[in-house]
Amino acid sequence: MSGRLEGRVSIITGSTSGLGAEMAARFAAEGARVVVSGRSRERGDAVVAAIRGAGGEADFIACDLADERSIRALVADAVARHGRVDDLVANAATTATASGEKTTGILDLDNAVLETSIATNIRGLLWLFKHALPALIEAARPAERRTSSIVAIGTSGTRNGAPGMPVYFSTKAPVEVMVRSLAREFGGRGVRSNCISAGLIQTESEMRTMTEEFRRYVLKLNALPYFGRPEDIANAAVYLCSDEAAYVTGTTLCVNGGAAF
Ligand SMILES: NC(=O)c1ccc[n+]([C@@H]2O[C@H](COP(=O)([O-])OP(=O)(O)OC[C@H]3O[C@@H](n4cnc5c(N)ncnc54)[C@H](OP(=O)(O)O)[C@@H]3O)[C@@H](O)[C@H]2O)c1
Repeated sequence: MSGRLEGRVSIITGSTSGLGAEMAARFAAEGARVVVSGRSRERGDAVVAAIRGAGGEADFIACDLADERSIRALVADAVARHGRVDDLVANAATTATASGEKTTGILDLDNAVLETSIATNIRGLLWLFKHALPALIEAARPAERRTSSIVAIGTSGTRNGAPGMPVYFSTKAPVEVMVRSLAREFGGRGVRSNCISAGLIQTESEMRTMTEEFRRYVLKLNALPYFGRPEDIANAAVYLCSDEAAYVTGTTLCVNGGAAF
């Protein structure tokens, strides 16, 4: 452990798998007490067990981002257990297609998919910010340059577009706008707010749903000739929550192999 997040309490939504699970492990390795969250207790408990096994501190609090009461309870429970919240990594999102495929073309538009995507990726994110901000403000000491941090995970696909993803991209694009708004409104109270715009990262779910055609499409877009790994996003998130980023707010850090600048 190198202790870049020592003493911090970090909520990471959607950390029962994929990028969130990787960030949870890295945050714990950097000394944070991590609140692992998602709907699946089974997968959340496995992430917590792995972190504890490696000597880190973590616990699981279930939360469904499509349910405002559940979001409020997540933050209240985290404060009750740990006394503070220093970081909110807003990572959870749904791709919400019945088939398990990410693509939901506009010609196949389905109201259930639309509702779930809006409820989780837009409404849920706004409620999450609303309920977490009081704790983040409370933990910050801006006069001493001690800040709290919001990091929201966006996708670079919103910049380039891609076939068959109008619902997913439409509900992910607002992330960058949200963090800029929060950066303006809450910077004075010591809350930094940034976005990581992720390119294609080889998570288990991404590899499962990616077609060969899409693979080739992304590699053509990338300036670098390879895909991202979960640790690429975790490295960026650790930086943005650490004191090394004390003067960084309102920005979008592209971690996307040059797919979009
Ligand atoms: N992988 C990529 O290439 C890539 C690229 C660009 C952006 N991103 C973004 O990175 C983030 C993580 O993606 P990933 O690839 O790691 O996906 P993933 O493995 O499918 O993880 C998604 C996480 O979100 C949680 N989640 C989904 N719906 C939820 C809900 N209603 N309430 C609470 N939690 C919910 C899931 O947990 P439960 O099932 O336990 O609820 C899971 O832990 C997303 O915001 C995604 O848009 C990923």
